[in-house]
Parts: sequence; C-alpha cells; structure tokens
Amino acid sequence: MSQKKSDSAVRFAAVGDIHFKKESAGTLRDFFAQASEAADALLLCGDLTDYGTAEEAKLLAEELSVVSIPIVAVLGNHDYESGMPDTIRQTLIHAGVKVLDGEPCEIHGVGIAGVKGFAGGYGRGSLGAWGEPAMKMFVQEALNEALKLESALAKLRTRRRLAILHYSPIVGTVEGEPVDIFPFLGSSRLEEPLNRYPVDAVFHGHAHRGTMEGRTIGGVPVFNVAKPLLQRKHPDRPPFRLYEVPREPEDA
Ligand SMILES: [Fe+2]
Ligand SMILES: [Fe+2]
Repeated sequence: MSQKKSDSAVRFAAVGDIHFKKESAGTLRDFFAQASEAADALLLCGDLTDYGTAEEAKLLAEELSVVSIPIVAVLGNHDYESGMPDTIRQTLIHAGVKVLDGEPCEIHGVGIAGVKGFAGGYGRGSLGAWGEPAMKMFVQEALNEALKLESALAKLRTRRRLAILHYSPIVGTVEGEPVDIFPFLGSSRLEEPLNRYPVDAVFHGHAHRGTMEGRTIGGVPVFNVAKPLLQRKHPDRPPFRLYEVPREPEDA
C-alpha cells in the first residue's frame, strides 16, 4: 500500500498499546509524524499510557502535538491503573483527541463507535453472571461495555462505519497468547452489538502476542493493532495499520 493519501478513500492509521511512559518522551515523534503523513485520521486503541498517571498523559499529549490529522481514541486497562482515567481523558481531550467511551463520532464522513470493552472470555467459555456478587459485577462490567458499544453503533448514521475497542470482541485475534489468559483479553459479549450493527472494520489492542486479523461471526474484519504485535510481525514498517474506507461522495 502506497503512503500517498487518496481522493477516493479515507485512510485510517490504527495502533493500540503505546504504553507511553516518562522515558518515552521524544521517542515517538517520528512515529506519530509518519502516521500523520500516511493517513487522514489516527485511531488509538487503548493502553495509551503505561501506568495511567497524569504525567504520562501530559507527556503523551505533548508528543501527539506533531499529529496534524484528527485523532480518535479509547482508553485501555493501563489507563485506569492509577485510578485517574478522567484525568487521562481530559488531558487528551484538551490536546484535541476525541476520546470515546460509548459515544459515536464522525471523521471525513466515516462513523466511528468507540468503547474500552472488558474481559470475560469467549463462546462457551464466557463467564456467566452467577454466584457471588463479585462474579456478577465482573460480568456486568462486560455487559455495560457491550451496551455502550451498541448504543454508539445505533447512533451512527453514516454508510461507512468503524468500531474501536481496547479488548478483543473475538477469540481469533487473541490466538497466540497463552490459552490460560484468553478470558482476560476480551469478551464475546462485545461481538453481539457488532453482529446487530455491522461495521466495515473493528480495531482493538490489548493482546500484545495475539493475531493480527480475524473476523466476527458476521464476517466483519477485526484487526489487532497492538503496537508490540505490529512491531514483531513487521519490524520493517512503522507500527500502525493503514485501513482505507471508500470516500463518500459528499466528502470527496
Ligand atoms: Fe497493552
Ligand atoms: Fe491492555
């Protein structure tokens, strides 16, 4: 795929799991500049920071200042680690990033629904809401995230649509990770809204050792864009995935 932007397509650069920390300051400017050069919008799929501190968020926001295209993001579990996801969110919003948590947005005529998602496992291995209150709360969290995703998808009015998450909605793109931890990498409950409201493609991160591509039951392509995975699979390329959506006539 050439690096030249096109009039007939909207090009997205997607990456997750940047895990920005103090020592990262200054090291990702070239990477962000390359993404900005290659695409019409940047999608960030969670674990933006490493420990979820205010300082990491501030340094990341400064690093993102080289990006001249719209940025749409969801948070990941690491962004919650220090108990201040709202600070992380606000810092990034202040820097011009659209941080989605169940809201829809539109970039160059393409609708985007974004949510962090949650864990719980896949298919017959999905954890059920049964027994202790803590178990029920765990399952409820996944259900809440799925409901947020569904509500964002239902609000999209564009013909072309994308979804971004941190956790994986399918097992296919976590394969490669130890089987023992599959239930902590995502949940089939996140796939249900995507089957009801199909999109052109889904992007997620979190599974650093997963698989780059899979599909939902409905055939929607799902891309694991965790930065460590992209780096390992394509050490010769900048670690973001480019994805083109045909440009709608009104935006051409
Ligand atoms: Fe991560
Ligand atoms: Fe994560």
